[in-house]
Amino acid sequence: MADQFHRLLLAAIIFFGLLLSFCHGGVTSSFVRKLEKTIDMPLDADVFRVPHGYNAPQQVHITQGNMDGSAVIVSWVTQDEPGSNMVLYGTSEDNLKFQAKGKLTQYKYYTYKSGFIHHCTLRNLKVVGIGNTTRQFWFTTPPEVGPDVPYTFGPHSYDSNSTLSHYELNPIKGEAVLFVGDLSYADNYPNHDNVRWDTWGRFVERSVAYQPWIWTAGNHEIDFAPEIGETKPFKPFSHRYTVPYKASGSTAPFWYSIKRASAHVIVLSSYSAYGKYTPQYKWLEEEFPKVNRSETPWLIVLMHSPWYNSYNYHYMEGESMRVMYEPWFVQNKVDVVFAGHVHAYERSHRISNIAYNIINGDCMPVDDPSAPVYITIGDGGNLEGLATNMTDPQPKYSAYREASFGHAIFSIKNRTHAYYAWHRNQDGNAVVADSMWFYNRYWGSVDGSITTIS
Ligand SMILES: [Fe+2]
Repeated sequence: MADQFHRLLLAAIIFFGLLLSFCHGGVTSSFVRKLEKTIDMPLDADVFRVPHGYNAPQQVHITQGNMDGSAVIVSWVTQDEPGSNMVLYGTSEDNLKFQAKGKLTQYKYYTYKSGFIHHCTLRNLKVVGIGNTTRQFWFTTPPEVGPDVPYTFGPHSYDSNSTLSHYELNPIKGEAVLFVGDLSYADNYPNHDNVRWDTWGRFVERSVAYQPWIWTAGNHEIDFAPEIGETKPFKPFSHRYTVPYKASGSTAPFWYSIKRASAHVIVLSSYSAYGKYTPQYKWLEEEFPKVNRSETPWLIVLMHSPWYNSYNYHYMEGESMRVMYEPWFVQNKVDVVFAGHVHAYERSHRISNIAYNIINGDCMPVDDPSAPVYITIGDGGNLEGLATNMTDPQPKYSAYREASFGHAIFSIKNRTHAYYAWHRNQDGNAVVADSMWFYNRYWGSVDGSITTIS
């Protein structure tokens, strides 16, 4: 039944264009961004505006709803009353002949009480909010999972107005966002003012209501505040952002996997236990053998805290997880790891650092064609400002780093090739600050790694 809806609706948000293609090696960018203070958007900012109409659905967002992308979770908030849980959907505005019933949740956080949060799983959305004000959205269902299906991801972290606009205007059309954590930064406000979760939800709606964002938990999602009686980690995030973790055999929504087009995406939690014998460890151990590179050639991992980070901010915070999991990443030939957290940009060469034991002292990263490229894309722009303080000299494993805000595109062409480009926000979208061709670690030539540390 779902097939007949397949790709009948087109959300043409971003159009295709030409990008430059070249590669850097061991570069610390000399680009100096214009000095401007990162301004916290006020609560009455235009982008936070509440939609018109009684009980109008707001903060609409979608994410993948099952393992292979044939289902979508639609979430929204109603403020005045619960309203309807139903979503009508179909292949055109005039043909909404299907419906799905969602679930309702609500939470309190200190003195804040959330609106009515709805989550509904379906295959093709058109209208949300039956019974009161209605609003219409559309999305494109992903192509069926397969080895040579072209697909473009937009890896993101916290989105400033500027970053989101640049992503939307990029001539290469991102079809889904890989979000590497730190959403609203509500925890930076007194008593973790959860109104900021609402404003952030309205701010990003213009993108996330139309294409799925794949969620990763960051430290700003923990919202652990015993001083005000809030001792359950991830409480607002868990209520607001639902992910299909059970479909991949996970026991918690902070680590899970999905398949989308020609990619298998593994999401890990830097802020859940990951040591040996823990649920996340056991899940990941069993997850890697399930990855079928004949079906999904591209193996992508998302996490919040980077393992390789040569800025002086959050230095080594990802180290203990690296020690636990890096050998698996190499054995299983992960293509690329996207992380956030550090508010700057950095890309590594293909390197690993798994030889060390307590006797041999081999603790330097080395070239490793089976290792992933590590990309820190924690550069969306945030209250803390840019991380400009770098270790000096630049480590050999670091291919390119730049203290700018920006956004990236990871564009899979087929089972062997993917084009990656990072754009700083202060140039037009035709300007690529950093780019490389990815040669698939399973199907591509081992020699295809075009940059090395030597
Ligand atoms: Fe962070």
